[in-house]
Amino acid sequence: MNQIKPTVEETVPILDFGSQYVQLIARRVREAGVRAILIDPTSSAEAIRSLNPVGIILSGGPSSVYQADAPRCDKNIFDLGLPILGICYGMQIAAEILGGKVKKGNAGEYGSARLTIANAPGADDLFTGVPSSTSVWMSHGDQVNALGSDFIPLAATHDCPLAAIRHRSRNFFGVQFHPEVTHTPHGGKILENFLYRVCKASGTWQMGNFMELSTEAIRRQVGSGRVICGLSGGVDSAVAAALIHRAIGDQLTCIFVDNGLLRKNERQNVESTFRDHFHIDLRVIDAEDEFLSALHGITEPQQKRKIIGKVFIDIFKREAKTIQDARFLAQGTLYPDVIESGQGYWRTAANIKLHHNVGGLPAELGFDLVEPLRELFKDEVRRLGEVLGLPETMVWRHPFPGPGLAVRCIGEITKERLELLRDADEIFLEEVVAAGLYRSTAQTFAVLLPVQSVAVMGDDRSYNPVIALRSVDSSDFMTADWSRLPYDLLARVSNRIVNELRTVSRVVYDVTSKPPGTIEWE
Ligand code: XMP
Repeated sequence: MNQIKPTVEETVPILDFGSQYVQLIARRVREAGVRAILIDPTSSAEAIRSLNPVGIILSGGPSSVYQADAPRCDKNIFDLGLPILGICYGMQIAAEILGGKVKKGNAGEYGSARLTIANAPGADDLFTGVPSSTSVWMSHGDQVNALGSDFIPLAATHDCPLAAIRHRSRNFFGVQFHPEVTHTPHGGKILENFLYRVCKASGTWQMGNFMELSTEAIRRQVGSGRVICGLSGGVDSAVAAALIHRAIGDQLTCIFVDNGLLRKNERQNVESTFRDHFHIDLRVIDAEDEFLSALHGITEPQQKRKIIGKVFIDIFKREAKTIQDARFLAQGTLYPDVIESGQGYWRTAANIKLHHNVGGLPAELGFDLVEPLRELFKDEVRRLGEVLGLPETMVWRHPFPGPGLAVRCIGEITKERLELLRDADEIFLEEVVAAGLYRSTAQTFAVLLPVQSVAVMGDDRSYNPVIALRSVDSSDFMTADWSRLPYDLLARVSNRIVNELRTVSRVVYDVTSKPPGTIEWE
């Protein structure tokens, strides 16, 4: 787990007991305007105090508090005088520490349940603006089943008589349900009540504010040093570069490697945004030949990835050496990467995407890292990009894999095949944008298959390749469903591809969800 760094910004630390929803809690708190960070649940009360907390949240988790090896928090946090909200396991562990009892419930509750809010003293603090009978999302087997007289029950469901509680003298609230998920329609309001009515937060977590604070932090870290930033065309590195440039101006040099595997006009877009609009010192390296010759004859996907990763690092190193006095390397690392690389015992299977690290740079390059987005989730990075004035097309761009079109050009990679794929991809994207569907799909692209198929063009028989169209809806890219694009749109795309490109004989649409199909074909 990432180390605790003292801060002056008003913060709500979330003790992460391993709930699958823990990141959602952080996002909801941030959306409500308060900085939230996930921390090791065993952190000492002293360390937590250094975070300038306005309140503390204890997350849910898969353990049972009565198991000997269940994760516990420092009981001194209840003496810090801070408001504390326990959610699910977080409520159970707090109730146990403060004198209550937790047992396996008669019936576990999973899914929606009806919550009835009691007319109890102090229920308002948490439930102002929430109907007295409302739907909540439950996911628990255990429950608090006996409370000392120090507690007041605030709400119940059919199977859980103590679904919300508060402590009489300490500022502790507990909810057995999950306010952070959208299936709890008034969950946002409950969290907001906790933050603003109970914690009396002032709501300073705004992107404009974040931008000012990080600008200062970058200046402090870098001093008069020189920073290199590798641009990929994606939103993370673009936002990192724009932010760093705002902080240190021409002490920043950006490197963009044109590997010949980019989408149509990608290089021109990067050049016009960074060089012409932001006036950033941008070096574009034309490395198409180097990549294509290294990939010559290679068809196996993982081998393609390895080669591309290696060539990229070689080129980047070479170029970085020519930049005098470069001491710092900027990276667009995001908060989920920081959390997932944590070592906590409650993290399992977090690094599913390890093989995707093409374009990553090894630590032995010897630079100090500047990672100004380490605290942000993707949607926050996008908002920051907008505040920084990046063009909408860059801020809302779909993710694009490090190995680029190489993993969408199935089979052998040649300049001609890439050209064809690029043109088909552009037609598909143009039509999806024109139909107003780009933002609602998560990833939309064309794939060139190593399959020839027969077509009749005029009176001639042709025998040409097949293009597959792939478009998926997804919020986390771990699971995805194929987009239900309108037939008319698909018909327009297919027509344009076969007519305008002439050398494609057939267009197919991929209707495979993930799992089992991955988003990319290779
Ligand atoms: P899959 O294909 O595994 O993709 O469902 C999930 C997400 O990861 C992207 N992806 C990659 N990104 N290097 C990357 O930087 C890669 O090698 C790579 N392979 C897949 C994919 O585009 C999707 O967003």
